[in-house]
Formats: sequence, structure tokens, C-alpha cells
Amino acid sequence: MREEGFLRAAIEDDLDELVALWAHYIRDHKHNPAYNRIVRTGFVSRRAAFANDIRDEDAAVFVMARRDGGLDGMITCRIELNKPYFQPHRFGRIQTPYVRPDARRRGNLKRLLAAAYRWAREKELLEVRLYVGADNVVANAIAEELGFDAVAVVRRKAIDWSRPPESQVKDHE
Ligand SMILES: CC(C)(COP(=O)(O)OP(=O)(O)OC[C@H]1O[C@@H](n2cnc3c(N)ncnc32)[C@H](O)[C@@H]1OP(=O)(O)O)[C@@H](O)C(=O)NCCC(=O)NCCS
Repeated sequence: MREEGFLRAAIEDDLDELVALWAHYIRDHKHNPAYNRIVRTGFVSRRAAFANDIRDEDAAVFVMARRDGGLDGMITCRIELNKPYFQPHRFGRIQTPYVRPDARRRGNLKRLLAAAYRWAREKELLEVRLYVGADNVVANAIAEELGFDAVAVVRRKAIDWSRPPESQVKDHE
């Protein structure tokens, strides 16, 4: 039978596994232009960002770990400052929630989220925010079910250098 993972904070020894999970996460977003255009050194800088999140007291990485050293899932939390004219002054940003396909539907995301909420309370935060790809139907449904209200939509438009700006606006009248 498959061994269940256990929750813990990530350590530097997890970095290779974290980047491997991130590669899967990115592959799951391969049709989303906000996440799929990775620069040549992207994996190196993502590894450095994970390392920073593990070390930094304003951030945390939680994992579902197996005894063989493998990871079944991860979640990253980081304190982000709001615009100075909006409240709350700070919120927790939840990033890269990911669970391996063969470890899904067993409450692993819920365990990771509970750890993120515990972390948020320790940091005296009043709110967490989660960014979900607009095309990620399942993740949006899960987020909704787990109580995350949608408060903003990021819309993207590529700049067309082959036509004058005015004609691009006219096309959409
Ligand atoms: C989204 C993801 C992290 C969920 O992980 P998980 O460990 O399977 O989630 P859980 O088992 O804790 O499920 C939590 C709840 O979400 C809902 N849920 C989970 N998977 C679902 C699915 N495929 N369809 C509908 N609802 C689902 C259920 O309400 C579930 O609670 P329940 O099992 O008690 O009914 C996982 O599917 C994943 O890694 N997907 C790819 C990456 C991704 O899209 N991440 C989110 C980006 S913001």
C-alpha cells in the first residue's frame, strides 16, 4: 500500500524535490501564458526563490513528505505588503499549492492549507490571498469550495507590433 505523507516545514535538503514539483506545477499550466513562458534560467531562479522562502522569516514552505525523502505536495506562503492606501496593510500570499496526482483526493491540500493558516496566525495576518489561473477550472472550483472569494481578475493582452495601436482598439469596438 502507498505510504501516506506527513506534514512538515520544508528544509534546504528538499530543494531538488521542490523544484521537481514546481516543474509538474508548471506543466499543469502549460496553456496559461502567465505561467508557461519560463526564462532559460527559470529553474535556477525558482530554486533560489524556494531557498529564500525556506530561510526568510516572512515566508514559509510546507510539504507533505514521505519517509523515503520524496514529497507528495507543497505550498508556499509569503507576507506581502498591500498598497499603502488599502487595508489590510499586509496579507499572506499563498503560492504554488501542488499535490502529486497519485496523492490527490486524500486531504493533502487541506493539510497544507491548515499549515498555511496556522502560519498566517503566527504572523498576525488577517487575510491570505491565492492566485489561481483563470483557465484552471478545477482549482477555481476547489478554491471556491474552500472559502476563497474571487476579488480580482488579471486580464492579459499581447501588444501587437505589426499594427498601429488605434487599429487594435477599433477591432474591438
Ligand atoms: C488543486 C490540488 C492542489 C488539490 O489537491 P488535493 O490534495 O487533491 O486536495 P484535497 O484532497 O485536500 O481536496 C480538498 C477539497 O478540494 C475539492 N477537490 C479536490 N480535488 C477536486 C477535484 N478534482 N474536483 C472537484 N473538487 C475537488 C474537494 O472539495 C476536496 O475536499 P473533499 O475531498 O473533502 O471533498 C491538486 O489537484 C493539484 O495539485 N492540482 C494541480 C496544481 C494546481 O492546479 N494547483 C492550484 C493552483 S492555485
